[in-house]
Amino acid sequence: MKKTILTGLRPTGNLHLGHYFGACQNYLKMQNDYDFYLEIADVQALTDNFNNPEKVRKNVTEITIDLLSTGLDPNKVNFFIQSKIPEIAELTVFYSNLVTVARLQRNPTVKTEIAQKKELFGNDGESITYGFLGYPVSQAADITAFQGELVPVGEDQLPLIEQCREIVRKFNSIYGETLKEPSAILSETKRVKGLDGNDKMGKSLGNAIFLNDSEEVIKKKIMGAITDPKKIKKDDPANPDICMVYYYHNLVNNKENIEKVCSECKKGSRGCVQCKKELIEAMNNFLAPIKEKRAYYEAHPEEVKEILENGTKKAKQKAEEQMKKIKKAMKIDYE
Ligand code: TRP
Repeated sequence: MKKTILTGLRPTGNLHLGHYFGACQNYLKMQNDYDFYLEIADVQALTDNFNNPEKVRKNVTEITIDLLSTGLDPNKVNFFIQSKIPEIAELTVFYSNLVTVARLQRNPTVKTEIAQKKELFGNDGESITYGFLGYPVSQAADITAFQGELVPVGEDQLPLIEQCREIVRKFNSIYGETLKEPSAILSETKRVKGLDGNDKMGKSLGNAIFLNDSEEVIKKKIMGAITDPKKIKKDDPANPDICMVYYYHNLVNNKENIEKVCSECKKGSRGCVQCKKELIEAMNNFLAPIKEKRAYYEAHPEEVKEILENGTKKAKQKAEEQMKKIKKAMKIDYE
């Protein structure tokens, strides 16, 4: 029996290199050997976009196309839409008894997000909604509705997986051994830095390269990337370790070129403009097959729709089976 993988993404924008290296690469590696469920988490996206439903709706399709364009095979991965699986919402209600409000308030990921969303939740989180505070509970429902054992995620999601494990243990201790405790699987590249040198690449940080950025946009972004500030003249020796251009060469270029960039930079025999131009070329080459697949799916919207329908059908079956077990354990399995 293949193990089950469950992961999810909030449909709030297009995927960027941070998603690609931090998460998608892992999906690509794992798609062959597991029973894979990939949730487009529209209900979770609404927890902090409840006032912008058009954005969520549009990005359900966008993010599905992005994911397919990275090379995920719809015959191996079940793409599904969260809101089409009402069992998840039902489970969320059951689990809400198994977690304290204080524990949710201490969740580091939730805390960080509340601090970032002052406009929505107030300066000190005084306007935090019940829904947003509780999204880790609904995420535990996402995972366990499918008996997800492995959860490939970015580093920022670890506190949410831990929260899920706690809910599972609590459930099993009260209602009997029913649920599996999931494990997080991190990518080799845990986190991708932004063009500005920020530790994290993020859409809201304005420092991201998106998988669907045009060549023109990529050129502009890379030309503005942060390099060693001490390097003034073209032939000044510099430190590649603090240069974002070298950092991205490492992600998208080949070994030989990466070594060349590093040694020439240290020696002062390479100017930053030349180095950026080479990165632009390497980045375009790296993104070309992804964009080619994107163009295919953009031209075949009915295929994308069908992929979501088929995946959702499979997910629904799996969640229904799991729900029977859960209701039985909770003694709410009325005939
Ligand atoms: N919270 C995740 C994010 O913001 C998305 C997500 C929703 C998820 N449900 C999930 C991740 C289940 C892993 C498992 O990216």
